[in-house]
Amino acid sequence: MALLAPSILSADFSNLHQQIRSAEIGGADWIHCDVMDGHFVPNISFGAVVVKAAKSASKLPVDVHLMIEHADKHLEAFAKAGASYITVHQEAVVHLNRTINRIKELGVKAGVSINPSTPLEMIKEIAEEIDLLLIMSVNPGFGGQSFINSSLRKIKEAVLLRKKINGSFLIEVDGGITSSNAKLILDAGADVFVAGSSIFNTDNISAAAAELKNIIK
Ligand code: DX5
Ligand code: ZN
Repeated sequence: MALLAPSILSADFSNLHQQIRSAEIGGADWIHCDVMDGHFVPNISFGAVVVKAAKSASKLPVDVHLMIEHADKHLEAFAKAGASYITVHQEAVVHLNRTINRIKELGVKAGVSINPSTPLEMIKEIAEEIDLLLIMSVNPGFGGQSFINSSLRKIKEAVLLRKKINGSFLIEVDGGITSSNAKLILDAGADVFVAGSSIFNTDNISAAAAELKNIIK
């Protein structure tokens, strides 16, 4: 059974607790927090203060996706804010092995993300060390973009890589996921589905989450 990780990037921040609870009622498994710095990605979103608030809204694990430069300087703050997973971008980190080890030392599960234009090959050497591989299916920076179809091939490649190295990382997919393409993504081998606008930009957050959950379970 795959997991659903609603991204609060598209939530109403004036009502964050209630919106997270609605997603939880609809079957959310994790809460995905998109941290953006205006450098690695063009947009600025939020930092550890909001992650802490998201954590306090439910008992669900908080999945922090760092789209930032100099991630090492901020790992401790996100760990203290209650992150269960911290994911950094392969393209934004110079010493990836060191950063992954640091995340684990903080008692947090460690993830690596790759952009749509980054080949899977780039995470091959770190694949045995990670708990999560986040495959971006849109160019990171904004919610509400369309799913890039070549991501399906990359998900399948990731499944093969995991088998080959006898790895244990979860394969998470992020960007442009809707009830129309979720089944294709599931069939490709995804374990965790991030969805922002297709859950929070709706009239009924619980129902939208439940609809997606029903497809991926
Ligand atoms: C994009 C973020 C995503 C985003 C997904 O940079 O990493 O998590 O919130 O939003 P949707 O589901 O609207 O594509
Ligand atoms: Zn994300």
